[in-house]
Amino acid sequence: MPGIVIVGAQWGDEGKGKATDQIGERVDYTVRYSGGNNAGHTIVVDGETYALHLLPSGILNPNGIPVIGNGVVVDLDVLFEEIELLASRGVAAVERLLVSANAHVIAPYHKVIDKVTERFLGKRKIGTTGRGVGPAYSDKVNRLGIRIQDLLDESILRQKVEASLEQKNHLLVKVYNRAAIRPDEVADHLLSYTERLRPLIADTALVLNAALDAGKIVLFEGAQAHHLDVDHGTYPYVTSSNPIAAGACIGAGVGPTRIDRVIGIMKAYTTRVGEGPFPTELLDDAGEKLRQDGGEFGTTTGRPRRCGWFDALVVEQAVRVNSFTDLFLTKLDVLTGWEQIPVCVGYRVNGELVHHVPMTQSDFHHAEPVYEYLPGWTADISGARSFAELPDTTQAYVKRLEELVGARISGIGVGPSREQVVMIRDLI
Ligand code: IMP
Repeated sequence: MPGIVIVGAQWGDEGKGKATDQIGERVDYTVRYSGGNNAGHTIVVDGETYALHLLPSGILNPNGIPVIGNGVVVDLDVLFEEIELLASRGVAAVERLLVSANAHVIAPYHKVIDKVTERFLGKRKIGTTGRGVGPAYSDKVNRLGIRIQDLLDESILRQKVEASLEQKNHLLVKVYNRAAIRPDEVADHLLSYTERLRPLIADTALVLNAALDAGKIVLFEGAQAHHLDVDHGTYPYVTSSNPIAAGACIGAGVGPTRIDRVIGIMKAYTTRVGEGPFPTELLDDAGEKLRQDGGEFGTTTGRPRRCGWFDALVVEQAVRVNSFTDLFLTKLDVLTGWEQIPVCVGYRVNGELVHHVPMTQSDFHHAEPVYEYLPGWTADISGARSFAELPDTTQAYVKRLEELVGARISGIGVGPSREQVVMIRDLI
């Protein structure tokens, strides 16, 4: 069972790091395949909290090799900040990190453009993390991107930075009323990393295929989530890459037949950061209670997350498009104390009852949730370590979610630390 993908089934922040951790030390390679430092994993190991944005959370696995795949966009300032921070805390795996030669670089101008574009969009803004992720992917598709390997050839790098900035400087100066960015300054800044980066650069697709051939366990660790996918998410309120399971093949350079298990991570309720449709969002005290109880504030930006009840239609679509073999349910303990828990089982769209996420953006924006009310529980479940130890109503909640979304739940998070899980079946 060597190729495993982990993907968020909602709008991100489902607690993917926690699930990764359960497979953690048995994994030989942990690969990030999409996104950049817009992600945020919080992992608690032995009482120590680690907040990572770019490195795979598998970096805390003392045995494995962490990999940044070709599908990732890399901010070198952040990369080396995280490496140094972890090295200073004695995390040995940073020394084994590999970075794909084909991964793209988030240059300083991408961050500037991310911010000015959002400002110009005004009320139509996406609510990005402002980390330059979208503009870096735009350059990649426009064939104006800078790749990690370009840092190995100074003359090529300087030409590429110049080409990339030519049009952008016109835009920055004439449209956005900002100072032009000097190509030589950008190139010098990027080149200042070359010698530290050189030993990490690899043909990671070659490395990973060889590892799979040898029967090694490779974990492809998704960032963001299904509904933030540029093709399958709530476009345009999405990120600029493909976090879905199929993105692992593109972003790591392995074929679909190498993937044996696809694990969807879903929170026991729903959250979202940034703009975009969210039918079960709670704008009242109940939403505030979920936010406080769940500590729903962004790891990357600190923004309060929008909170709402579990939406089975949102997860059902993710089950379908990602072919999840298993689900991992997180933060179930956060729901403790509610007399009854609403679960969205349909939408009313223009008076009609529907059971799938609507085809069009307009209909999704108008979708009103139709709830089923499940009985809650008051007992503290954070000490439960087997399904049988959960109260009957908690078990019924879990089983109803399985039925509604159409996939089996194999693990449940019942508290923030690594040990606080109920495993129903192994994820490997
Ligand atoms: P970007 O990825 O910074 O371009 O932001 C695009 C959208 O994706 C915004 O709504 C962000 O809030 C959202 N987003 C990006 N990364 C994450 C994440 O790791 N968790 C949750 N939302 C995210």
